[in-house]
Amino acid sequence: MSFNNGIAASPRRQGGPGIRQIGRHSGMALLKVRNLTVAVGKRTHLADIVDALSFDLNRGQCLGIVGESGSGKSTAAMAIMGLLDGKSLEMSGSVVFDGTELTDLTPREFRRLQGSDIAMIFQDPMSSLNPVLRIGDQITECVLAHHRSSKKDAWDKSVDVLKQVGMPDPVGMMQRYPHQLSGGQRQRVMIAMAIIFKPRLLIADEPTTALDLTIQAQILELLKALSRDLDMGLILITHDLGVVSQMCDEVIVLYSGRDVERGPTQEVLEHPKHPYTIGLLGAHPSLDAEDAMLTPISGAPPSIWRRPSGCAFRDRCPQAEAMCADQVPELATVGHASHQAACLIYGGHVSPEGETA
Ligand SMILES: Nc1ncnc2c1ncn2[C@@H]1O[C@H](COP(=O)(O)OP(=O)(O)OP(=O)(O)O)[C@@H](O)[C@H]1O
Ligand SMILES: [Mg+2]
Repeated sequence: MSFNNGIAASPRRQGGPGIRQIGRHSGMALLKVRNLTVAVGKRTHLADIVDALSFDLNRGQCLGIVGESGSGKSTAAMAIMGLLDGKSLEMSGSVVFDGTELTDLTPREFRRLQGSDIAMIFQDPMSSLNPVLRIGDQITECVLAHHRSSKKDAWDKSVDVLKQVGMPDPVGMMQRYPHQLSGGQRQRVMIAMAIIFKPRLLIADEPTTALDLTIQAQILELLKALSRDLDMGLILITHDLGVVSQMCDEVIVLYSGRDVERGPTQEVLEHPKHPYTIGLLGAHPSLDAEDAMLTPISGAPPSIWRRPSGCAFRDRCPQAEAMCADQVPELATVGHASHQAACLIYGGHVSPEGETA
């Protein structure tokens, strides 16, 4: 079976193998995502950007989603947040937040949740802040959009939240424009706007990528403390395995829109099974082994329109065999009970008809 033109629905979407779960108390999960699929294109010519992603997230838990550029991380996040561009992208699957099916909500109902119960820190703070509005006006506008309160109260609440995220001189910052702030300060403004209503779910999309290591550590520490203090579920999107190791209880490794490995962070990072995860770890610098050589993964991820048949990673995989060209690997348990990898080496073969072999 070929996935390269995206016309054929994937075995996962056809409801083949069972839903895989992540999260320790799936019965009481804050967020349940099932078979989340986002496709682009016209009805006769679709390609999956995100392919049948499923996971659970509990309050107080941090889930990392990691993968190379273009693997579908931000698209998955935007789909969960109800922020996809519905004109060009088609979404299917289920997203249940605290018992509510979000895909059934009207745009108005969704807007009520966005920013209050569920919030997102966007990948690029500069393009997410309005360049011609002062920081204070932007935060108070956000408060007034969700809360009936006086301008003075909204202003005071905005100063308080800037203090909460460790902003130096919060009153002075309120008067400044975004371009007058450093990258770290802008990121703190984004976090402040995201947490102002103490959301139960926060999605942080590459919140520290553009920052130097000291500021990165401060921002991550801040997110960790907020998650703990507010008992928030946190989804942290990153391409940095060091960040995952420091922050996340569980991790999902995405490759070309599919989760190829997942499980408890320590287990996955210490005993990686999928050749892609092994490759990512080999390409990641480690401070413990100063003289260790970095081994980049050869080649580049495929375009969503030209995925190879079978395993999408096979063209770059040092362990690829003939069978990888015509069989789609499905997640299978590897070692630890909730540690799974989608590689034919570990079984869990899926026939083109979507039946687990
Ligand atoms: N509206 C859209 N129309 C067409 N293609 C899109 C659209 N949005 C995203 N894509 C494509 O989907 C793929 C995944 O994009 P996405 O932004 O989710 O990746 P990412 O994993 O967040 O990457 P990065 O690490 O660079 O942020 C890319 O190939 C991108 O070009
Ligand atoms: Mg992204």
